[in-house]
Amino acid sequence: MNCCVVGLQWGDEGKGKVVDILAENCDIVVRYGGGANAGHTVVIGDTKYALHLLPSGAVRKSTVCVIGNGVVLDPAVLIDEIEMLKKHGIELESRFFISENAHVVLDYHKTEDRLREESLGKNKIGTTIRGIGPCYADKIGRSYAVRMADFRDMAKLEGKIENIVAYKNKLFGAMYKAEPIKAADIIEKCRNFAKALVPYVVDTTQYLHEAIDAKKRVLFEGAQGSLLDLDFGTFPYVTSSNASSLGMAAGCGVPAQMVERFIGVVKAYATRVGEGPFPTEQDNATGEYIRDKGHEYGTTTGRARRCGWFDAVAVKYSARIGAINEIAMMHLDTLKGIKELKICRAYSIDGKETTFFPSDAVRLSKAQCVYETLPGWDEDLTGITNIDQLPQAAKNYLAAVEKIVNVPITMVGVGPKRSQAIERKIS
Ligand code: IMP
Repeated sequence: MNCCVVGLQWGDEGKGKVVDILAENCDIVVRYGGGANAGHTVVIGDTKYALHLLPSGAVRKSTVCVIGNGVVLDPAVLIDEIEMLKKHGIELESRFFISENAHVVLDYHKTEDRLREESLGKNKIGTTIRGIGPCYADKIGRSYAVRMADFRDMAKLEGKIENIVAYKNKLFGAMYKAEPIKAADIIEKCRNFAKALVPYVVDTTQYLHEAIDAKKRVLFEGAQGSLLDLDFGTFPYVTSSNASSLGMAAGCGVPAQMVERFIGVVKAYATRVGEGPFPTEQDNATGEYIRDKGHEYGTTTGRARRCGWFDAVAVKYSARIGAINEIAMMHLDTLKGIKELKICRAYSIDGKETTFFPSDAVRLSKAQCVYETLPGWDEDLTGITNIDQLPQAAKNYLAAVEKIVNVPITMVGVGPKRSQAIERKIS
């Protein structure tokens, strides 16, 4: 069975852990979108692996890892990750493939991201400054784009980079009065990138189709969350890729019809980093409690995450557009000690109640939440290994989410370790 794992909120749902667990029964794990803006944490024993580009399956020594064409790849970050795993005795040789069509994030993308955000002041998007938007913009624009295949012919790439840098310098100078970038510095870095990464570059679409024909089991790993999807998220406060499962097919060339399980990952509450509307946000003591107990600080940027109640309207929308047939709910343990828990079951916008999530940021920012209130629990859940052992209040909480979202919860996270995920069979 092939499966796809995506976040149903604004990212950071704990997909890394879910992928790591499911990877045990898969042969191949594929990243199909986003770039080093993502941060996946996998905890094995006492070791914590923070990955940004490599699929979470990379930490399993027998799993094949693929970076699809939809990813924007920062070679410096990827090389550091490969080295970091090597230090832990984890080799990627002969089990790692990068799409020749994946676009490359270079220094000028990060510069452009920063300059644009700085110039926007209070209208900024709050990006991770990893060059994601500028790299996807160059991909769509075509004329100034670099793809992984370009590293195969450095002589040709050098000329291309000279041209791109001349263009970017004109742009950055005129728009932001920025210091010029040196093409020679980028070319020098590219030589090293080419040496380190060309051995992994292949036609991953062909590889994946042949693998599926050979009955290999493939897991497609989403980055960010569905509400940050460029088309279906809270635009413009989104990332620059299709972060929902709808981005999967275009991001690796495998159509959705070849995937049986679409697993949506949520946290038992909601978080968001960066700007943009967030109806259930608790900018108060409850939000601080969740941030503190859930260690809600970004893996990539270290920023404190905004925290709030579980938004079932938003999750129901993400589940619908993503054809989600199972939910994995992480961080249930974090809610311990909160007397009353709230789940947003509808919005009131301009006096009208709706249960359909409006992705339009202007309408969404007007949404008043209609909450269902449930009693909380004081028991520590971190040692629980079976759903039946959960306190009744926690069971009721899961049931309330399932009822509103209308998708079964098949995994519950009660701590960061692999062992702290309870799988739940659906009858
Ligand atoms: P960008 O992807 O760096 O362009 O940032 C655009 C928006 O997406 C910002 O609000 C970021 O905080 C958010 N974002 C990007 N990647 C992640 C992630 O992995 N988790 C949570 N938010 C993210």
